[in-house]
Amino acid sequence: MVRHFLRDDDLTPAEQNDILDLALRLKADPLTHRPLAGKAVAAIFEKNSTRTRVSFEVGVAQLGGTSVIVDGRTMQLGREETIEDTSRVLSRYVDVVVWRTYAQKRIEAMASASRIPVVNALTDEFHPCQVLADLMTIRERHGALAGVTATYLGDGANNMAHSLLLGGATAGMHVRVVAPVGFESRPDILVDATKRAEETGGSITVLDDPRAAVDGSDVLVTDTWTSMGQENDGRDRVSSFRKLRVDADLLGHAAPGAIVLHCLPAHRGWEITDEVLDGPASAVWDEAENRLHAQKALLSWLVTHP
Ligand code: CP
Ligand code: NVA
Repeated sequence: MVRHFLRDDDLTPAEQNDILDLALRLKADPLTHRPLAGKAVAAIFEKNSTRTRVSFEVGVAQLGGTSVIVDGRTMQLGREETIEDTSRVLSRYVDVVVWRTYAQKRIEAMASASRIPVVNALTDEFHPCQVLADLMTIRERHGALAGVTATYLGDGANNMAHSLLLGGATAGMHVRVVAPVGFESRPDILVDATKRAEETGGSITVLDDPRAAVDGSDVLVTDTWTSMGQENDGRDRVSSFRKLRVDADLLGHAAPGAIVLHCLPAHRGWEITDEVLDGPASAVWDEAENRLHAQKALLSWLVTHP
């Protein structure tokens, strides 16, 4: 059965761990593993991207494959061709489809008609490739994932919050989320993450007070308050978010040796201060680099999976 990576809990805990192991090996030895020789990957972007686009293109080349990067806004998808028909055709040309799009149900439709793996390169609901890189970074810095406490501060209903909930729970982490009223995580995702955490020894906690949430945390995670596609939704994303800004004072309440993650692009001075982003606790540049290694491991696993 063809495997897809549409949301973080599409991987079992053991599978996620194997992919992270491989990612760390590929980081140490980036050019000798070539499971994509003779294979092609189509990466389609309906939203802007710097990291995801470049890291997939370079990663596929390093794995010996060919990539086709497509601006989804110019495809026939944008006219009347259906997602399913697009998927059937892509399955005849390439070996993996990577897609950055809007609603999760769009990528589910792509996967439903696909004979090849489909990878979520960000939807409104999930950003699982990013969280694989985040988990890799936490493992590098803290030596393990199980039992580590990561606190997300920001829009609890966005793709990063949801992926951290599911991906962190899969890794056996204690994931805390603090979000303003009206920006809470989706209840069904909280339920799924809690169930996964019960299997792995992790936990999921929703808190109101940022200081209490940060207390004892090993990792602080933040993200833009306004995700792509929300720019003109008319909602006030400043006054209720301001208290969640990751600054030196808030970081001072975290556990000793705590690190800070941000998927980037950062809105400096809004969700995170320059002092923290450029300071000693910031792991964001390693996090950005690890997109490359984690995605290479994911692609390798998908094309070699029986
Ligand atoms: N973090 C991330 O996905 O960055 P891009 O939007 O630049 O791809
Ligand atoms: N939540 C952000 C992540 C960007 C990589 C967005 O969707 O715009």
